[in-house]
Amino acid sequence: MALIILAHPNFDASIANKTIIEELNNSNLNLEIRDIHALYPTYKIDIKAEQEALLRHQTIVFQCPFYWLNLPAILKLYFDEVFEYQFAYGSKGDKLKGKNFILSLTTGAQKEEYKITGKHHRTIYEFTKNIEQTAYYAQMNYIDPIYLHSMSTHGGPGQPPLPEDELKARAKEHTKNIVSLLATLQHQKAN
Ligand SMILES: Cc1cc2nc3c(=O)[nH]c(=O)nc-3n(C[C@H](O)[C@H](O)[C@H](O)COP(=O)(O)O)c2cc1C
Repeated sequence: MALIILAHPNFDASIANKTIIEELNNSNLNLEIRDIHALYPTYKIDIKAEQEALLRHQTIVFQCPFYWLNLPAILKLYFDEVFEYQFAYGSKGDKLKGKNFILSLTTGAQKEEYKITGKHHRTIYEFTKNIEQTAYYAQMNYIDPIYLHSMSTHGGPGQPPLPEDELKARAKEHTKNIVSLLATLQHQKAN
């Protein structure tokens, strides 16, 4: 039903993304989950295998933590190599046309830090504009990204870290949003 591209370079230590993936696995949705860091620990991406996976699905969720106000390197490399000429763009590059593109990000920082007067001065929406354009360039249907803030185990400015139970509970709530979005898209497709 949907493809989940998980991009987390340190999944063993993850709380948020690990919980999200566990919850997605427990959902009754028919998902193909590809952990690209585990598949390609030396960053040698099997481009053909990834393109074939993309072709199998109408909806693709890119699930990752926000690193240095950007995508983790493995996901940037994935776009560089898998979204290649005459596949994702170019005169014959329409293989992803019309597919749903969903970015699901976890951040360490709190929501309040992503505003003009906040620590990071810009909204996540602004930081992810280039990813939105990547989707449009590949003729994909860009769906509003879903963000899960305050997932740091170090806490934030003037804010102690949330207890692990709470981090997990928040990640479970976030997964419900993903599941409901996927169900809505599936319903739209059927009608
Ligand atoms: C290398 C690195 C860079 C990070 N950069 C940011 C950042 O720019 N903004 C932010 O909000 N959090 C940042 N974080 C925090 C992670 O986004 C946060 O720990 C992660 O989303 C939590 O998910 P996890 O439990 O699955 O690892 C960074 C973490 C690491 C390790």
